Amino acid sequence: MNIATGKKLIKNQLFGHPTGLFVLFFTEMWERFSYYGMRAILTLYLVSKTTEANSGLGWSHTEALELYGWYTMFVYLMSIPGGIIADKFIGQKKSVLIGGILLVIGHGILAYTEMWAFYTGLVLIVLGVGMLKPNISTMVGSLYQKGDIRRDKGFTIFYIGINIGSFLASIIVGYVGEVIGWHYGFGLAGIGMALGLLVYYFGQPYLQDVGNFIGDSTSKEDKEVLNRPLTKIEKDRVIVLFISFLLVIVFWGAYEQAGGLLNLYALEKTNRMFMGMEVPASWFQSLSALFIIIIGTTVARFWAKRKLKGKNASSIFKMLVGLIIMGAGFLFMSAASLQFEEEGSSAMYWLIFAYFLNVVGELSLSPVALSFITKLAPVKYASIMMGVYFAMTGIGNKLAGLLGESASQYGEFTIFTGIAVFCILFGLLVMLFRKKLHDLTHGAEDDEHIILE
Ligand code: PHE
Repeated sequence: MNIATGKKLIKNQLFGHPTGLFVLFFTEMWERFSYYGMRAILTLYLVSKTTEANSGLGWSHTEALELYGWYTMFVYLMSIPGGIIADKFIGQKKSVLIGGILLVIGHGILAYTEMWAFYTGLVLIVLGVGMLKPNISTMVGSLYQKGDIRRDKGFTIFYIGINIGSFLASIIVGYVGEVIGWHYGFGLAGIGMALGLLVYYFGQPYLQDVGNFIGDSTSKEDKEVLNRPLTKIEKDRVIVLFISFLLVIVFWGAYEQAGGLLNLYALEKTNRMFMGMEVPASWFQSLSALFIIIIGTTVARFWAKRKLKGKNASSIFKMLVGLIIMGAGFLFMSAASLQFEEEGSSAMYWLIFAYFLNVVGELSLSPVALSFITKLAPVKYASIMMGVYFAMTGIGNKLAGLLGESASQYGEFTIFTGIAVFCILFGLLVMLFRKKLHDLTHGAEDDEHIILE
């Protein structure tokens, strides 16, 4: 349908995108609010002494970081079963609903102080994110028809929602948890998710055509898709997806230094005095989310314009450019470590520049990768492929932790420079094969234009 059915079109569109996008936007914004809010205070709670007024569990740093590492990895690994359940049994729409309910209960239980509540809450959150996160992302893709150029931009808008959630969470839940009480913070994360669930529930009329279980479909075509083996084209596309997953592991392995090594660098080696005040190290953590909110649509618009002009802007190309730019950001950190060696502390602007380039890179890669999966995955494996993508992110996160730890042995300069050089060279190397990779997509991204409804 197009301009001829203008009325219907305007009714179902908001800011030039399907209205359902904004239902998913706010649902995911609140889900991320709860996830990042809880994550912001988890380790602090674990290491707080049992004797303090706002008492924690009194764990050692090593114990706390170990639990944190397992937790963040499992959260994303669970996306694989989450995807399987959606594809094989109930569809994405119901999976997201169940995930949301599990998350409200999980975060809610953490508001209690008993240990059983702590572990039960964590397990429910891991299961809840696994059911919700990959499936809601797949649903975003289903809002757009094949060949609709707005899809990438839609994912960027969705990605901005993610970051509004994480930005607000780090400030609000962080404050409530630290100042008022840990369990109030956890409870607040639960309230956030409950709001997300309400948005999702009442937004259902805008999601009628997406996320349904294709096994329930009465259409003959859909039934055939489920039963037949993958075609050669579909298999080729899956190969490209798996290669792009490799980029994703490298990307997050480097990028996720943010929460670890870069965080510590801000705390211990950076001169944070600004107009007579010391800027808290944790503020640098919200910088990435803030940059994404500010420049998100600019980056997406840049690529869309380029594509409309017929210049190279395939997903693989954008992802590689993203990897290279993010890697280059670490060169600023090399400069920072040189300055530290000479002067005993390094300037704040190095971190700001590094985070800025990291974000430009992230915007070129991460929403594009989500979109790419929804273009390339065979319909019957749509959610599973998304689940595998999130699992790869989990592995990237683990890799980041290992790299960060090795800085105590090799020194920051070596690690920062190593990350930069590796990402840039790896990006350039794969760039040599990008035509070949593009051919394997069999035109999944050719001839994109605006398709309304
Ligand atoms: N900020 C992103 C998010 O929370 C980070 C991320 C990217 C996580 C890809 C998982 C997968 O969605």
